[in-house]
Amino acid sequence: MTANTPTDPAAEETPTTLSAVPESDEGTQLPGAPDPADPETEGPILTPVPDPEESTQAAADLVVVAIDGPAGSGKSSVSKASARKLGFDYQDTGAAYRALAWFALSSGVDPHDSAMVVGLLEGFGYAIGTDPDDYFVRVGETDVSEAIREPRVSAAVSAIARIPEVRHYLVALFRSIIADTDRPGIVVEGRDITTVVAPDAAVRILLTADEEVRMARRSAELSGHSAEAVGEQLASRDRQDSRVVDFLNAAEGVTTIDSTHLDFDQTVSAVVELVRLRTA
Ligand code: CDP
Repeated sequence: MTANTPTDPAAEETPTTLSAVPESDEGTQLPGAPDPADPETEGPILTPVPDPEESTQAAADLVVVAIDGPAGSGKSSVSKASARKLGFDYQDTGAAYRALAWFALSSGVDPHDSAMVVGLLEGFGYAIGTDPDDYFVRVGETDVSEAIREPRVSAAVSAIARIPEVRHYLVALFRSIIADTDRPGIVVEGRDITTVVAPDAAVRILLTADEEVRMARRSAELSGHSAEAVGEQLASRDRQDSRVVDFLNAAEGVTTIDSTHLDFDQTVSAVVELVRLRTA
């Protein structure tokens, strides 16, 4: 199967508005996705991408905990720790956008060149560990778990994440990873999990914190980079990302947890208690 480009008829069927919720019958014409029905299909995509409707059905008896929030809200570390406490899997969706940005940079592709980026999906070969105690991100044979956190990747990722075909492709991939979970539940974190990836999740949370607190947390994570530079990059990424997905306001039915005045353990407890309450 060859990669669709924006000139392909199939690509024209993809949503044109950036925050559009994919229709349930979309996703069968994914750019570069291996055909799950074809055992002969070869390709580096490690997780098969099924029909999104099928994956939603497969996930129906799972407890899905959807967590959205801006950069530096503590989403990733809180989600991972909550998954560990609950005995659930954990999926970091931002890692996929970051890994694709890393792949574009490594391939000499301009992240703003949508057609070229879409063309990369066929050979993306993305794999992520969903065990909270065995987290890794790979592109093909390369472990990119550390490399995708580099500032050059953070600076490129928003351009990648605004390409509708990329979002469409990755949303289906995220759903297939959810459906493949063999634990009782999965904590999935990102920007559009409560609204697009898993809008019918049993628990939907918006994790926020005041901007100064988020910047301070992120610069503490990235030692060796000036707090000012980290803050500027984070604010710029938030601005670009918020044009694509609204992750600063809770959608209907989504519970906001503001971690500004909570420490890490208190934030994890707030998430775990909410999950227990909702699933009791
Ligand atoms: O951890 P941090 O909030 O800094 O970012 P991330 O979760 O690693 O996500 C990296 C980037 O991927 C974001 O800045 C968004 O551009 C994009 N992203 C997205 O568009 N949708 C998601 N569900 C997750 C991430």
